[in-house]
Amino acid sequence: MKKESGQKMEDIISLCKRRGFIFQGSEIYGGLAGTWDYGHLGLALKNNIKNLWWKKFVTDRDDMYGVDAAILMNQKVWKATGHVDGFSDPLSECKKCKKRFRADQLADPKKCECGGEMGEPRQFNMMLKTHVGAIEDDTSISYLRPETAQGMFVNYKNIIDSYHPKLPFGMAQIGKAFRNEIAPRDFTFRSREFEQMEIEYLVKPKEWKEAFEDFRKEMLDYTKEIGLKAEHVYEHEISDEDRAFYSKRTIDFEFEFPFGRNELYGLAYRTDYDLKRHSDASGVDLSYLDEETKEKFIPHCIEPSLGVDRSVLAVICDAYTEDELGGEKRIYMKFNPSVAPVKIAVFPLLKNKPVLVEKAREIYKNLKKEFGAVMFDDNGNIGKRYRRQDEIGTPYCVTVDFETIEKPARPDDNSGRSGGDNMVTVRDRDTGTQERIKIEDLLKHFKTKF
Ligand code: GAP
Repeated sequence: MKKESGQKMEDIISLCKRRGFIFQGSEIYGGLAGTWDYGHLGLALKNNIKNLWWKKFVTDRDDMYGVDAAILMNQKVWKATGHVDGFSDPLSECKKCKKRFRADQLADPKKCECGGEMGEPRQFNMMLKTHVGAIEDDTSISYLRPETAQGMFVNYKNIIDSYHPKLPFGMAQIGKAFRNEIAPRDFTFRSREFEQMEIEYLVKPKEWKEAFEDFRKEMLDYTKEIGLKAEHVYEHEISDEDRAFYSKRTIDFEFEFPFGRNELYGLAYRTDYDLKRHSDASGVDLSYLDEETKEKFIPHCIEPSLGVDRSVLAVICDAYTEDELGGEKRIYMKFNPSVAPVKIAVFPLLKNKPVLVEKAREIYKNLKKEFGAVMFDDNGNIGKRYRRQDEIGTPYCVTVDFETIEKPARPDDNSGRSGGDNMVTVRDRDTGTQERIKIEDLLKHFKTKF
């Protein structure tokens, strides 16, 4: 029977905590709403997701320029873009229980879940304000950036002056963003501190459609590369009324989360809005000179914007699997090997037999040199180790047993072997099937898998 979606999310959150993927932020102090901490395995998963993005959209191309801009920026940046005045969501407060909600997410905009009457919605600005320097006055105001995008737009001129790229070219950045969300919810889905992977791809005004289509395909490809199921990813064309005012076209990529279909990524045609605003507000000419035609103009921008934490959450939700193996119920994370935080685990059959441990350590070291994310595990019996590795989504386990290193103990073995067979058992996470593979062939074997 299909699990209730609420129960499935509870199970996923519980596994994330139990196995050290994601913890509540500031947990020992009762938490801080909308903040999450990643543990060793969650961080490994997140890094794999970010590295795949960087490789696909930056390293493998020759038209991208990486940027790592400061989170704190001159407040004039956010005035120019309209964020200080207009980056807000509608907030409604219940007159009875005083709880605050995002008005556009209420099932009944007039009535609270407590039965009380809801007040009139007002606009709530989501910028997280702070002060820079020793004096707290209006001149020292800064904001924790609500998107990484502007860190790139303000560096447009630096990139032109340093690298002299020709259009079309892109600026790419991975980094933190902050929004004082009215109602953080659904685990990490809507957080107050999160990470984005964004590109500002600059084109000649007439060439935006082609670039838009290219990124549309590339973004869809990326969802496959990180292991999302194609049937869970949808494209949603945003209507004229719902689009941000600066965008002439937006597609949201939505994902079927257990709590419902919701935005995963956005792809927007931002026209020349941002560069124009910064050019006007700063007084610095941000136009581009086309050397062939001698034409001067502000480039137009296509922006693929991807949330890192939402990618991690979608990957976790799609990977979470319950089945039965050998007559026993089990939970496992069916991560695509490309994002799995641990690729291979190596076990000695028994932890108190030095010959087994020594051989397993030797194999572990060799595999680790090649694949990095390899784990040595000798805790508990083999069944427990398999369960643990299944829950963290390790695609393969390698076991060194007596047959590997010694003459077979079975009295009916007449093979005449004096040493072991120098083979190990390789167990597949998804099927539970096991095969014997020669130690000398292991590297070759796993190179075909990752
Ligand atoms: N620069 C464009 C921009 O920031 P956005 O649609 O507001 O556009 C882009 O955000 C992506 O950032 C979203 O598709 C989502 O993946 C992620 N994101 C936005 N708000 C978030 C939040 N509160 N928590 C987690 N991720 C968020």
